Amino acid sequence: LPSRRLAGRHVIVTSGPTHEPIDPVRYIANRSSGAQGTAIAAALRDLGARVSFVTGPAEVPPPEGVDVIAVETAREMRDAVGAALPADAAVMAAAVADWHVANARDGKIKKDGSGRMPALEFAENPDILAWLSQLPQGRPELVVGFAAETDDVIDNATIKRDRKGCDWIVANDVTPATGIMGGSENAVTLISDQGAESWPRLSKAEVARRLADRIAERLSGGAA
Ligand code: C5P
Repeated sequence: LPSRRLAGRHVIVTSGPTHEPIDPVRYIANRSSGAQGTAIAAALRDLGARVSFVTGPAEVPPPEGVDVIAVETAREMRDAVGAALPADAAVMAAAVADWHVANARDGKIKKDGSGRMPALEFAENPDILAWLSQLPQGRPELVVGFAAETDDVIDNATIKRDRKGCDWIVANDVTPATGIMGGSENAVTLISDQGAESWPRLSKAEVARRLADRIAERLSGGAA
């Protein structure tokens, strides 16, 4: 059946922002809504894939019919992705924080009367996409990353693809004027070893369907 082209396949999708705690009541986050990752998980499901949906605290609810693994931090996300392996493909649509607070407190930070703000120290988070792309054993056959850029989108995303070692990068322009971040549409360029292919501005659902189609083509041995 052409509509069940991913039956028997397992795909991991990361989605949403991460929250990096400062103390029990405060965290550092970002503006990812989880809309594009959620749409991708739904589109892969619609093609018959088993989907492990590893999601940070997103604004949009997860799709029905996928295995939802809810996480908060980048480190938890990395562990959840590792626990979900093996997989045929992985789509890393999460907006992962680059840093976590190294001196996060167990108790709520209080003003100490000095008028000075307590200093936060930061430590780098694992790069889940790079780690998965470069796994010596058990690397998914197809690893897809995202690149949200505001300048020189294609050049920067091409460099990112090389640096991280993923197969495809879905690059998009998140300059605020585009309304893409948090919006319902996306304009992406798919970067592979075949070069850069720009898609028209489409709904996030349609971007997801096209991407899922391409993943199905690639996993069945078709062209990139
Ligand atoms: O380097 P940058 O954050 O722009 O890369 C974006 C891509 O890398 C996205 O696919 C994102 O999900 C992934 N990523 C990740 N782990 C990180 C940072 C980014 O998986 N710590």
